[in-house]
Amino acid sequence: MRGKWWQEAVLYEIYPRSFYDSNGDGIGDIQGIIKKLDYLKALGVTAIWVCPFYKSPMDDNGYDVSDFYSLAEEYGTLEDLKMLIEELHKREMRLIIDLILNHTSDEHPWFIESRKNEDNPYRDYYIWRKGNNGKPPTNWESFFGGSVWEYDETTDYYYMHVFSKKMPDLNWRNPKMREDMYQMIKWWLELGVDGFRVDAVAHLSRNWDFPNYKAPEGKEYVACYHEYSNRPEVHDYIKEMNERTMNHYPEVVTIGEAGGASLEDTLKYCAYDRNEFHMLIQFDHCWLDTDPDSAPYVPSKWTWKDLDLRDLKRSFKKYQVGLYGKAWNTLYWSNHDQPRVLSHYGTEGPDWEVCGKMLATVLYMQGGTPIIYQGEEIGMMNVKFDNLEDYRDVEIFTLYKETVGKGLATHEEMMERIHHRSRDNARTPMQWSDEPYAGFSTTEPWIKVNPNYTKINVDEQLNREDSLLNYYKRLFKIRQNTPTLIYGDFKLYLEDDENIVLYTRSDGNEEYLVLCNFFDQHVKVTLPNDIEYQASELIISNIREINLQVEMNLQPYEALVYKLFK
Ligand code: GLC
Ligand code: CA
Repeated sequence: MRGKWWQEAVLYEIYPRSFYDSNGDGIGDIQGIIKKLDYLKALGVTAIWVCPFYKSPMDDNGYDVSDFYSLAEEYGTLEDLKMLIEELHKREMRLIIDLILNHTSDEHPWFIESRKNEDNPYRDYYIWRKGNNGKPPTNWESFFGGSVWEYDETTDYYYMHVFSKKMPDLNWRNPKMREDMYQMIKWWLELGVDGFRVDAVAHLSRNWDFPNYKAPEGKEYVACYHEYSNRPEVHDYIKEMNERTMNHYPEVVTIGEAGGASLEDTLKYCAYDRNEFHMLIQFDHCWLDTDPDSAPYVPSKWTWKDLDLRDLKRSFKKYQVGLYGKAWNTLYWSNHDQPRVLSHYGTEGPDWEVCGKMLATVLYMQGGTPIIYQGEEIGMMNVKFDNLEDYRDVEIFTLYKETVGKGLATHEEMMERIHHRSRDNARTPMQWSDEPYAGFSTTEPWIKVNPNYTKINVDEQLNREDSLLNYYKRLFKIRQNTPTLIYGDFKLYLEDDENIVLYTRSDGNEEYLVLCNFFDQHVKVTLPNDIEYQASELIISNIREINLQVEMNLQPYEALVYKLFK
């Protein structure tokens, strides 16, 4: 399959709370996005994905929706949103919104009804179970730490929530609930959105036998995610949803988010012939540097070790080769749930900018649709707040309670984990300039700005030819003008090399070679002799312009892309 707009798109993910505040209340908003559309257009972005802006008590910054049909006041009105669509379309750009099907807020009218009594017509919109001798129905662990069950004394039942307890899971077995969801989706389609990023879709189904697990030493709950992730019924729900909604809008794109999806699962979710999603956001490459055994008392994402580059390359290859010709990849380094990529897989040191360019090259020269996360294009980094009170993410606080609160870890240890891994790393305000509050707002923002904004900001980089931002622009221009880089196949070389990423993209006659040094050491590399070419032309590089040779001596974080002539 070729030539679909979403295959040739450059997506940019916006976390609206932190993007741009247009009215000086310290919170980003829809009008703020509109004000920055020209910036995005100039970057080469063709579509934006905006994280939830629905009415919400903001327990999980809007992923806890209390009304799917209106916007949170701080973000604006439906009129603002229509204006955003109009302004995007004027610029030949598109809008993808977040669609949250797995749960609602506990303040959603459905849940308020549901918890009232066992006979309420909304009771079965959610998942209620009796306790197990004074304990929760199962000992399954929530993604945010603690139990997936919350006791509700009104009826003496527990309800299930794989995320925060203010986000009760919907019961997708209930056809009435599904019907209400489809009505809602149709409403947004009619309003003119161009696509959906379908949140947490992997969890729509669970094992209704609710087996208990033997908990490891010192642990109360078990991270048995497979009991409520990527189960077969999820695909039936997606197919039904499409029949009722998306299929009637052939230009609309859907991007599923499926934590824990293997290559096999990914093909189920988005192979061209399956009629489910157009693309899938899977996480295989995101947490290759965890070390679960080092701290069994925290979910594994809170642990780490050095990245083994071979694992990352294996992951790239798995999806690049595994999906080729069968399904379409997404390409992303990070999002609003991940640490900043420079801090995670790159460096915050003096070479940060060269490294940022290398990371962009390694990833975005692959096959699939790029999804840039806001601020990545200027090299935004993790933040290290000294005080727990400066953090905002609900996940941090549930984790802290489950560890420090239960005497399993010290405050100092958990602060270090938070500095490395918390989602707030990605959620500090966008750094527009070196003015107060990074030019994000005229007042103290809802979460503190990363103090490095005086050095790392959009203004500074717009005005500097060799900036990371300008490199992003050049890289995406090349990509967009080179069908081989969009549709070509992917071949990985030097798989066992611990420092170098080397691959080719080729499409019939044309071939490109991408050569990157992932770390901060000088490295010698010998081109494998099955890469055949007569001549080569350098397309883009991040340090110097050098010819391709059999023996190359690469500088730290050096990135080079060549066109090969046979
Ligand atoms: C997804 C979102 C994340 C949210 C969760 C629950 O993983 O990306 O931010 O907390 O779903 O909606
Ligand atoms: Ca605002």
